[in-house]
Amino acid sequence: MPDSSETSSDTPSDTCEIVPTAEPALRAIAMPADTNPHGDIFGGWLLCQMDLAGGSVAARQARGRVVTVAITAMTFHRPVMVGDEVTCFSTIERVGRTSITVKTESWVRRGVGDDQIKVTEGVFTYVRVGVDGRPQPIVAPAQNDAT
Ligand SMILES: CC(C)(COP(=O)(O)OP(=O)(O)OC[C@H]1O[C@@H](n2cnc3c(N)ncnc32)[C@H](O)[C@@H]1OP(=O)(O)O)[C@@H](O)C(=O)NCCC(=O)NCCS
Repeated sequence: MPDSSETSSDTPSDTCEIVPTAEPALRAIAMPADTNPHGDIFGGWLLCQMDLAGGSVAARQARGRVVTVAITAMTFHRPVMVGDEVTCFSTIERVGRTSITVKTESWVRRGVGDDQIKVTEGVFTYVRVGVDGRPQPIVAPAQNDAT
């Protein structure tokens, strides 16, 4: 099983991208239970974290229940190691009649350093649904509605 403090081939100098300054949508630690038999973190685990992160941002925007309808432009740039602190940043790209498109990036903090490495990015589309599971229009919040 890879030890993230020793075996990282991804140093911060591998990326010249800038860590988002927005509030993270989700943080999680990659655990041994999230690995495949070779000790690598499953891509599906990371996809799940990203979907949760984007879904919570979309649900807040939609003020209701949302379901994932599509995942596009998904790229795994770097591997994630056991012990990595994974942070997902989600930004709304588009609000349609019933759908919300969210771009989510994942960054990891590895070992004891403060530097972060971008590991994935993807575009997730969510649809606001009612109790019947059918699409519901997204109502724009009122201008002076601070809640
Ligand atoms: C999401 C769902 C309710 C949409 O139903 P539908 O009959 O396809 O609805 P519509 O055709 O009216 O589309 C609804 C919105 O989704 C968008 N949409 C539909 N399919 C899409 C796709 N493949 N990519 C991007 N957007 C899509 C439409 O453009 C529309 O957006 P808008 O209203 O903002 O213009 C239905 O597809 C569903 O229940 N899917 C399963 C969702 C789920 O269980 N997700 C978790 C998987 S485990």
